[in-house]
Amino acid sequence: MSTVEIPAGLKELLQGYTLEVLRRRPPNLVEFAVQHFTRILENQKNEQRAGKQSSSDTSSSKPAEKEVAIETVANKSNENDDEEEEEQFKSPQVPKHVCSASVCAEAYDPDDDADDDAQPQVVHPKTQEQRQRLQDACKDILLFKTLEKEQFSEVLDAMFEVLVKPQDHIIDQGDDGDNFYVIDKGVYDIFVAKDGVSVCVGKYNNKGSFGELALMYNTLRAATIVATEEGTLWGLDRATFHRLIVKNNAKKRRMYEAFIECVPLLNCLELSERMKIVDVLGVRAFKDGDRIIAQGDKADCFYIVESGEVKILIKSKTKAGRQDNAEVEVARCSRGQYFGELALVTNKPRAASVYAVGETKCLVIDIQAFERLLGPCMDIMKRNISQYEDQLVALFGCSDDLKHQDSVSEPACE
Ligand code: CMP
Ligand code: CMP
Repeated sequence: MSTVEIPAGLKELLQGYTLEVLRRRPPNLVEFAVQHFTRILENQKNEQRAGKQSSSDTSSSKPAEKEVAIETVANKSNENDDEEEEEQFKSPQVPKHVCSASVCAEAYDPDDDADDDAQPQVVHPKTQEQRQRLQDACKDILLFKTLEKEQFSEVLDAMFEVLVKPQDHIIDQGDDGDNFYVIDKGVYDIFVAKDGVSVCVGKYNNKGSFGELALMYNTLRAATIVATEEGTLWGLDRATFHRLIVKNNAKKRRMYEAFIECVPLLNCLELSERMKIVDVLGVRAFKDGDRIIAQGDKADCFYIVESGEVKILIKSKTKAGRQDNAEVEVARCSRGQYFGELALVTNKPRAASVYAVGETKCLVIDIQAFERLLGPCMDIMKRNISQYEDQLVALFGCSDDLKHQDSVSEPACE
């Protein structure tokens, strides 16, 4: 009689999956299995990568110019000893490189309460003026949009001010993730190295946030971020980010998983890619008549209607092809449909204005995530863009609106 050998680890794998199913009660067991095992595979790959990284780290130190030279408020105020009142508002040194490769290999498990809940709450005292600036910088940060009020206030408490100088490397691709950053002011170039060549893929211009990926997925930094001028950032430490944002993402996945599955545009993505969209999206609510997009504005995000409806209006044209100020409705979008992609794809100002019809909720994705995650859907979007042109020809006898607008895009990096 032949004996059947059970491969090492099989029992643990299946037990792990069964436990997760019992804990989370997913509606679709097969889909959940794909997610669960994909996550394990990604963690295995990260561990292998981190193992390689730590062995190479012991033999070679980092080149000096790659070290981060961030000046924190703490450094500044140390130079000025008589400002005692400011002492209590000092920011900590940015704990760069505190995260070892082995920390980065930790399993991504947002529901692992035991670890995170044991973390003490971090509070960095702030002056009234700092608090006001911080609130302004954070009010449009998509990752914070789905937080409960209390969680958001904990995030604000934990954030610390970081002063940066031109050419400071805030993040270096390939490093471990320490902090998440929200921009208060300054311009920051984004570089991604491909086949050993570093390419500038975009920039943050006085708003936005970065540094979430390595913290969310326990991976190494996916891009290098360099300050091009003096600026100010707000940092959020890895542990607090994990405790509040990553935990909230688990909730977001449960809330939006089913809806995202029904968005036709996203059908071309793998399930794990769709979940990455859920992780970074924000939600915005609008009242009847609110203008969501203004024609001619510079674009920084993309929208999917979650509930309600929007109408799209274009400034009409005279027979001579000149624009007058009356707006003509050209389309409507309802649940599951998207808008705001055109300006991001063409690098031009917004081609139309968009208004809420009744109470409307939209999922919002920022331009960096749009470019990183929606590449596979580009063909579908481009096909739909040619339909807009047909619409404009039917309405105005020409489609100049889409083709001849002045580009607002600056060169990606100087
Ligand atoms: P993280 O990988 O933690 O650190 C680098 C950050 O750059 C990354 O998170 C994103 O927040 C940001 N980023 C912006 N554009 C890109 C891009 N095209 N690829 C990867 N990361 C990007
Ligand atoms: P964007 O130009 O970024 O912002 C306005 C959006 O309206 C545009 O992207 C499209 O998503 C949407 N839209 C729908 N129909 C049209 C049209 N005929 N012309 C231009 N934009 C349209």
